[in-house]
Order: sequence, then C-alpha cells, then structure tokens
Amino acid sequence: MSDILNELNKSANLALNSKSTQESMKHLAKAFALFSKETTRLENANVRLLNRFNKINYQLERVENEMRNKISDLDATELYLNNILKNISQGILYIDLTGVVTTYSEKAQNILEIDEKTLLFNKYLDNFRDDFFGFSIKNALNFAMFPKTSYITIKTKNLKKIIKITTSLVSASSKTHRGIMLLLKDVTDLQKLQTQANRNDRLSQIGQITTSIAHEIKNPLSSIRGFASLLYNDLENSKPLQDLVTYILDATKALERVTNNVLAYTREVVLDIESIDVSSMIKDIVKSIEIDESFSENVKINLSLANSSYFIPADKDLLKSAILNLIINAYQAMDDRGYLSISIIKNISSISINISDTGEGIEKKDLDNIFTPFFTTKQRGNGLGLPQAYKIISAHSGILEVRSILNKGTTFTITLPNVRK
Ligand SMILES: Nc1ncnc2c1ncn2[C@@H]1O[C@H](COP(=O)(O)OP(=O)(O)O)[C@@H](O)[C@H]1O
Ligand SMILES: [Mg+2]
Repeated sequence: MSDILNELNKSANLALNSKSTQESMKHLAKAFALFSKETTRLENANVRLLNRFNKINYQLERVENEMRNKISDLDATELYLNNILKNISQGILYIDLTGVVTTYSEKAQNILEIDEKTLLFNKYLDNFRDDFFGFSIKNALNFAMFPKTSYITIKTKNLKKIIKITTSLVSASSKTHRGIMLLLKDVTDLQKLQTQANRNDRLSQIGQITTSIAHEIKNPLSSIRGFASLLYNDLENSKPLQDLVTYILDATKALERVTNNVLAYTREVVLDIESIDVSSMIKDIVKSIEIDESFSENVKINLSLANSSYFIPADKDLLKSAILNLIINAYQAMDDRGYLSISIIKNISSISINISDTGEGIEKKDLDNIFTPFFTTKQRGNGLGLPQAYKIISAHSGILEVRSILNKGTTFTITLPNVRK
C-alpha cells in the first residue's frame, strides 16, 4: 500500500473516532485531499501504463509484421529451392552428420528407383551398404574423406544403370560441416555412346589398314593365279607336277575369297532407303530359313512380332543381311539344337528387334572383341559377320547391343529409329 493510502487510512480512522464534528471534518478534509492526491497519482500511473502498453503493442505489431515477412520470404525461398530440386537434371541426396538422409529429390528417386518412404529421414545404413556410392560414407561424414567423383553400376528392376556421383561437403563454417551432398546422374546412355564412338574409331582404323593390305595383296595374288594357270596348262603331260600346281591354285582362290570378303566389308555402306514393315520382313527371313537345308530342323523358332505392321525407313536387303548374320551365329552357337526367339518391341521413337538363342553364350573377355573385324572363336569363321552387321545398323543410325550368359544363351538387340535421322 502506498504512503498516501496509509495516510488516508489513518485520517479516515481519525475522522471516525473524532470526538467533535469539527475535528472529524478536519480529518475528513485531509482524507479527501489525500484521496484526490492518490487519484491523481493513480491517474498518472494509468496514463504511463497505457503509454507503455501502447508502445509494447506497437513493438509487438512491428515484430509480428517482420515475422510475417520473414515467413513469407522463407516460403518463397523454400518454393524456389524445391523448384531447383525438382528441375535440376541431377538427383540430390543429402546425408546429415548423424547419417540420416534429409533430402532426397524426385530425380534421385527416378535414378535409384528407391521409394522416398524407404529412404527419407532414415539412416542411410538402413538401406545402403556403407560403400554403396563407391566410397565410405562413414569416412566422408567423419573425416571429410571422399572422392569428388565416383561411378557405380546398379541393377534396378529393369536395367543395369551406370551412375555418376559428385560429392561435396555442406559446410556450416570453414572448419565444420553439416553433412554431405551427393549429386546423382544417370550416365548409362552417355557411356553407351562413348563405347560406340570408341568402337567406331577402332573399326574405322582397322578398316583403313585392312583395305590397303587387301588391295596390296589382290594384284600380286591375281598374277600368281594367272601364272599358276599357265603353268597348269603347260604341265599337261606331267600329271604329278600339275597336281602340285593345283595346290597353288586352290590356295590362291582361298586367299582371294578372304581379300574379297575384306574389301566387301570395308566398302562404304550406301543405303537404299525405303519404308519397310519390320514384322513382315522378319517373317520373310524366317520363311527362307525354314526351307533352307543348311539351317537345322532341331532349332525351334519362336516369333513374337507386333500385331499391326510397323514401318521404319531402312535398306531392306542390307538390314536382312545383318539380321541373317545374327541368326547364322545363333544357329552356330546352339550347335544346331535349341531355341531361337525373335521379338519386336515398339518404343516411342524407335523399334528394337531381339534375336535370342539358347546357345553356348559368349565369355566376358570376348564380349569387347566380337564386333572387331576378324575376331572369331570358330575354326572356319572369318570374324566379319558381326562387324558387317554392326556397320549396317550404324549406317541406319541404329544401335546393335549384346547380352550374353555363358552356357545359357545370347541376345542381340538391334534398335532402329522410326524416322530417318
Ligand atoms: N549368338 C552367339 N552366341 C555365341 N557367340 C557368338 C554369337 N554371335 C557371335 N558370337 C561370337 O562372336 C564371334 C564373331 O562373330 P562373327 O563376327 O559373326 O564371326 P564368325 O561367325 O565368323 O566367327 C564368333 O566367333 C563367336 O565367338
Ligand atoms: Mg558369323
């Protein structure tokens, strides 16, 4: 209680206990005076309080406005960042210091084909081996030790994918970091193109060398054959010597066949393009195989062709010869007994023709060489069937790929664009 109020209380009590009216009035007057003083003091205090209240209220309003602006700024930034996350061509995966995945963009999901629910806000070790990304995540988080770029191959539901991973630290300051950011990029197609480009380079170099050798051999060879023929005629009366000349003639013929094959292979492929229906072309090829006795009856043919016709621009004869080369190889790999399956798959802008056999398969070490001219594992092979097929498909802007499992079988896939490139 304030001093004034104490005083007022006292005066009021004195007024009540006064013996005379006069005395009582005097105390009452003092009490009123004190009352009015206290009222003024209270009023002043009230005004001050009100002022302070208004001031605080004003400050609160200002803070609230600032907060609101900050929140809307944050919302805008979040939207902006989410947009970047969504549209960036690489997948993003962020692992914080405790090993929890706290960012996992849509693209990253497309690449890894692991659902957001499985990965997001869980420890990466719950879903990946520590070295899944080609280096130890533990070492990266604890010691900032990791390669800037790494490559991994993963097998997803559909395909084998090659993924390039670019890793960086996300730093809180120059000394500490908060976690690591992994940028993922599917480079499977890029690598395929690279392999194809390398192969094309190699093929063209080998092509140039072999053409010049074949030309060099061709002329002396025909002289040898010419003179050997003359000799053969001259030796009509000496049968044993004439027989010896027959060996020379046979050998030169064999050599000529080889050089002619080589020259045919190295000749530039000139396409005579027309619109062809792939299904009916394959049916034609199969019909011709069925009546050809050199193809064993013990190979059963499965066809899985598109119901409707599907036209692509191609050189019919060349494409047929490429497919026939693949089919001949398939028969040879199956030792004339097994299953040959041919299927057509329509893609958006291309078609794929799969030719599968249940033959001996191709050893891993040979897979890189089978498209190289003269590579053969057969006693009587010339090693030109696949390079020739490859050349023809490439001339159509197509791709020839192979998958093989040893002792199980091999599939060659021809992919051709459905419009002329
Ligand atoms: N379908 C297949 N199955 C197993 N191996 C194959 C198949 N196709 C090709 N190859 C391998 O690739 C090599 C090269 O084939 P190719 O160029 O046609 O030459 P060639 O048939 O004269 O040997 C073959 O010798 C064989 O080792
Ligand atoms: Mg062959």
